Amino acid sequence: MTHFVSHLEGAIDGTRLEFGRIYNLHAGKPIVVRYDLAAVRKVVTPTDIATRPPTLWRYRELLPLPLDVEPVTLGEGMTPLLKCDRLGGELGLPNLFVKDESQLPTGSFKSRGMTAAVSMAKWLGVKRVALPTAGNAGGGAAAYAARAGLECFVFMPQDTPVVSHFEPHLYGAKAFRVNGLINDCGKIVKDGTEPMGWFDLSTLKEPYRLEGKKTMGLELAEQFGWKLPDVILYPTGGGTGLIGMWKAFQELRELGWLKSDKMPRLISCQAEGCAPIVTAFDKGERFAELFPNAATAASGLRVPVAVADFLILDAIRASGGTAVAGAETAIAPWMKRASSREGISICPETAVCFDVLEKLIVNGDVKPSETVVVFNTGAATKYLEALPAELPLLEKERIDWDKIGA
Ligand SMILES: Cc1ncc(COP(=O)(O)O)c(C=O)c1O
Repeated sequence: MTHFVSHLEGAIDGTRLEFGRIYNLHAGKPIVVRYDLAAVRKVVTPTDIATRPPTLWRYRELLPLPLDVEPVTLGEGMTPLLKCDRLGGELGLPNLFVKDESQLPTGSFKSRGMTAAVSMAKWLGVKRVALPTAGNAGGGAAAYAARAGLECFVFMPQDTPVVSHFEPHLYGAKAFRVNGLINDCGKIVKDGTEPMGWFDLSTLKEPYRLEGKKTMGLELAEQFGWKLPDVILYPTGGGTGLIGMWKAFQELRELGWLKSDKMPRLISCQAEGCAPIVTAFDKGERFAELFPNAATAASGLRVPVAVADFLILDAIRASGGTAVAGAETAIAPWMKRASSREGISICPETAVCFDVLEKLIVNGDVKPSETVVVFNTGAATKYLEALPAELPLLEKERIDWDKIGA
């Protein structure tokens, strides 16, 4: 057997779809990959996995690309799981960890999804891909498309952080700014499918980015010795990270690889300037409404409508977690505070998670005894605008040590 995919499945109604064909949505909703986990269990164990190179492709049997096909890879993963004693001390959390995705190619967790999706697209014969982006996905897609020799078109809101303009340009994609939000960019990609003949690589509008993101959950379990933490805080935009991790935990449970079946509580963190999932969660709804006038410095979270809203909300509820909005005014201070305490390059999206974490500690929803993981989904250095650094200029002829030491 060259792969362990049993079938693809329409997430809204369970319709079985044949693997090996090109799909976007089914009934207007995402498609997910299902595996023959009994067959996986027979051929591989956690001990085998421990001997493999430290990239996300070590979980090969739980990824859709056939085993005899070379992935399109930049050597992504595994990312470090960093214990944060200084910050944990301040917050009263002795077991606080950051899983640092900023160290991945193109500086964000998006490369996990892109290595999987671009590998699959290439294998399925796609020659041209297009996607809307809040910033990081565009750079990631462009890099992997370059690696695969595919043509790539990227559409982003006009006020996307400037490093995200540079990246797709650098990697040879055709990149455009649009006078609208990410959903407007998504419409351009959808409308262009026919005249431009490209494959729509939008978040959760094809099945495989999710599989790449899933490896965050697989890695986390492996790094904790096949146990899971009590609480995970995850910045949520389109939701692939959160849904992917939850999928990983279910697959690991079914495989019998986890030492305990206790699942972590998933805390979906959004910025108050764009919090459609938080609003739907609070109202007890399964589908979210378009968030009006979306605006936040955490640009990756500026997703006013998510095609997989129900999957995000289902996962949060099934985990016993919650969805909370962080304050806009807390973003820059938390970027600085968390980065300067731990030396980790904390992006604005993760700064939102820290604000949410502080709230949950104060109201008793997160206890000091709990093991808490915050995902740092990208590098702060990709957001020069979020925390401008105006360095004082020294005159070399007149150095004043008192001023320097102040
Ligand atoms: C740094 C960062 N964090 C989080 C997100 C949200 O990701 P997801 O689509 O998995 O919810 C994004 C999306 O652009 C991002 O760039």
